[in-house]
Amino acid sequence: MSELILRADEVHKTYHIGKRTVEVLHGVSLSIRRGESISIMGASGAGKSTLMHILGGLDRPDAGDVFFEKTSLGRMNSAGRAAFRAKRCGFIFQSYHLLPELDVRQNVLLPAMAAGNRRDAKSRAEHLLDQVGLSGRMDHRPAELSGGEQQRVAIARALINDPELILADEPTGNLDSHIGENILNNLFDLAQSVHRTLIVVTHNEGVACRCQRELILKDGKLEE
Ligand SMILES: Nc1ncnc2c1ncn2[C@@H]1O[C@H](COP(=O)(O)OP(=O)(O)OP(=O)(O)O)[C@@H](O)[C@H]1O
Ligand SMILES: [Mg+2]
Repeated sequence: MSELILRADEVHKTYHIGKRTVEVLHGVSLSIRRGESISIMGASGAGKSTLMHILGGLDRPDAGDVFFEKTSLGRMNSAGRAAFRAKRCGFIFQSYHLLPELDVRQNVLLPAMAAGNRRDAKSRAEHLLDQVGLSGRMDHRPAELSGGEQQRVAIARALINDPELILADEPTGNLDSHIGENILNNLFDLAQSVHRTLIVVTHNEGVACRCQRELILKDGKLEE
């Protein structure tokens, strides 16, 4: 069996809004091996995006920790976490997070610049945009694209540094089933062929079925 790439250990997260508290994660533990594909399902508001942000080092848990290989994300400083995100991890956000003032090609190039991975970056960006069917849109700004097109830009951007760990938060939520299926097939093929690790949050049973392990987030805990 391949080694562990990611481990969550008793992760807790509570949000405080004024006097109200929302307990979202109550001790989530998870071990993922390199090359595995995993789906996470659960009701809206169950905490799936919260968990993904913590697994990717974008947010910190109140208690518990996440380990990438053997390194604790909790003990890294923010510069260390930023470097981890830039170099090792590709994030496809539920709400795209494209930069409005940059065109499509520049958005995809951004993580390559952040990671100092400039070699052939432009041709890699264009190849990825071609793969997601956006070769004709490279000079457009995000505001000129449909939701599904923006999501495809976000997918290309997540793959530009060929990350070992791909975190995809409802990557096909805004795509029609045909394009969504194509893109997911690409993601799964890529993950398998080069032994990349893929965590996909989805509401789609068909997507979940394609993963080696299916998890459900319920009452703040993960069930296999
Ligand atoms: N920054 C925040 N501040 C306060 N509460 C938050 C914050 N982010 C999320 N929450 C709350 O935490 C809970 C979990 O949110 P989260 O976005 O993780 O759910 P989700 O499972 O991804 O839902 P969906 O399927 O709708 O995307 C929700 O009740 C939400 O209102
Ligand atoms: Mg979500």
